[in-house]
Amino acid sequence: MLKLIDLISREVSGAFSAAGYDEAYGKVTVSNRPDLCEYQCNGALPAAKVYHKPPMAIAEDVAAQLAGNANFERVEACRPGFINLRLSPASLADYLEKMRTSERFGVEPDPAACRMIIDYGGPNVAKPLHVGHLRSAIIGESLKRIFRFFGNDVVGDIHMGDWGLQMGLIIAELRERHPELPYFDEAFAGEYPAEAPFTIADLEEIYPAASAKSKADEAFAAKAHDMTRRLQEGDRGCRALWEHIMRLSVADLKKNYSRLDVDFELWLGESDAQPYIEPMLGIMQDKGLAQRSDGALVVDVSEPEDTKQIPPCILLKSDGATLYATTDLATLLQRMGDYQPGRIYYVTDKRQNLHFEQVFRAARKAGIVPPEVRLDHLGFGTMNGPDGKPFKTREGGVMRLERLIAEITEFVEKKIEDNQVVGDAERPETARKIAMAALKYGDLSNQPTKDYVFDLDRFAAFEGNTGPYILYTIVRIKSILSRAESADALCVRAALSPEEKAMQLVISRLADNLELACRDSAPNLICAYIYELAGAVNKFYHETRILTEPDPEKKAGFLAGIALAKSVLETCIDLLGFEAPDKM
Ligand code: ARG
Repeated sequence: MLKLIDLISREVSGAFSAAGYDEAYGKVTVSNRPDLCEYQCNGALPAAKVYHKPPMAIAEDVAAQLAGNANFERVEACRPGFINLRLSPASLADYLEKMRTSERFGVEPDPAACRMIIDYGGPNVAKPLHVGHLRSAIIGESLKRIFRFFGNDVVGDIHMGDWGLQMGLIIAELRERHPELPYFDEAFAGEYPAEAPFTIADLEEIYPAASAKSKADEAFAAKAHDMTRRLQEGDRGCRALWEHIMRLSVADLKKNYSRLDVDFELWLGESDAQPYIEPMLGIMQDKGLAQRSDGALVVDVSEPEDTKQIPPCILLKSDGATLYATTDLATLLQRMGDYQPGRIYYVTDKRQNLHFEQVFRAARKAGIVPPEVRLDHLGFGTMNGPDGKPFKTREGGVMRLERLIAEITEFVEKKIEDNQVVGDAERPETARKIAMAALKYGDLSNQPTKDYVFDLDRFAAFEGNTGPYILYTIVRIKSILSRAESADALCVRAALSPEEKAMQLVISRLADNLELACRDSAPNLICAYIYELAGAVNKFYHETRILTEPDPEKKAGFLAGIALAKSVLETCIDLLGFEAPDKM
């Protein structure tokens, strides 16, 4: 379905052409003076130079052509040559009724939609999830839903850090503590126990202990390196321990991410890319791209037009060890082979910008990723505490994700307890939904690349530019609709007040906002849009007696308008990754 602005542009272009001017001048924009008009066309100004006429004369010619056009309530030529437009309430209502009765509100899929892989989340196994992983999960999940909405076939891959030294550290520490375990007995040929000899809580204690020990104790560090090597070479005992670690960690991660309503189609990680490292290095060598530099194997990825220096991408360290870039290049080879995606999209902290620039360039040079496949990296900013530094616990430690979610949920739960609208039975689930809205909207309403300050009081407020305010608006509409007798004859009707028209105009701009949010990977544009819509709905609600309206047709029109607003809001918050309760 055409966007309303394109429909209006078509009418105005037709008028330019009927008046003897090039129709290209008929492009219309949303008015930046909503007090004067709703849409405007400034085409008479550039046309004046070409046709050697005063712009005002052209604007008047065009306005005359539009006189009597049923789409407009008023068309005015204004000095120095603007054409100001007001839609007729009937045609606006018509458009909304089409939206209301179309699938996905008539928003067209992206003609360039393709198969996509989004690499987001990126937790490291056996290390607790912390708020640094939170943004990747929140932004990645929202982008995945937005890309899907526009018809892309999107696969989310969590891409765990599940390989390398961190695993060697854990295994080495386990051996120090429990040398008697069969995993460390090289002569052991039987079956290893099915149950892990540790719990997830043990692991969370073991990893930091081992990591600290390796920094202070060289002999232990050497043992950890040795265990890493043995794991990589396929040692049975190490492999069995690794599998235990993975099983426990993945179960724990699944629990945590599901609390966030974030889910992944693929639970792959760095370990899955290991078989692709040799073939990837082979390609680099065959293409003559791999060079020795101080013993390391590197690919030069600098370009003559670079304004800042891009250092070479390191494939192997001088001791033969693989690095982050090695794994990411191998993963690209794997993904291209397994999924033939048209686009691969990474969501990480912006401190990884250079890493991805190097990896993308190396992959292009080697032909691992052909030119028609898009590679994108969204480097997001930091979530800061009130002191402007990366968010910490009150004691100054790294805030664990679980604890953060628990704190927000508790805070919200107290609030709704005071309000006494939600029954005891629904309270935990309602609190969870509001907490998610507070957390996710608080994050997503910022431009992703910017840092922001986490402020629980502000994010969880029921008024202002917050997630709970949006939910509150939806809940209010739900309550009105539930008190209306019948929803059968709903039909959007011509607006009867400026407030109703204003609400309808915002609804009509859904597609424009979603398209921009998708094009620019900017969930913040959806937040801004629903904030505007919620404001318009609340204004309309305050100015209108909806349920007590005696004229059944008028009443059905009001109800259809707010019901449509509700569906639009619900669709938008779903794209942001949260949902509304029935009461709050
Ligand atoms: N595990 C990494 C980290 O914690 C993020 C992984 C992102 N994805 C990737 N393909 N490099 O920083």
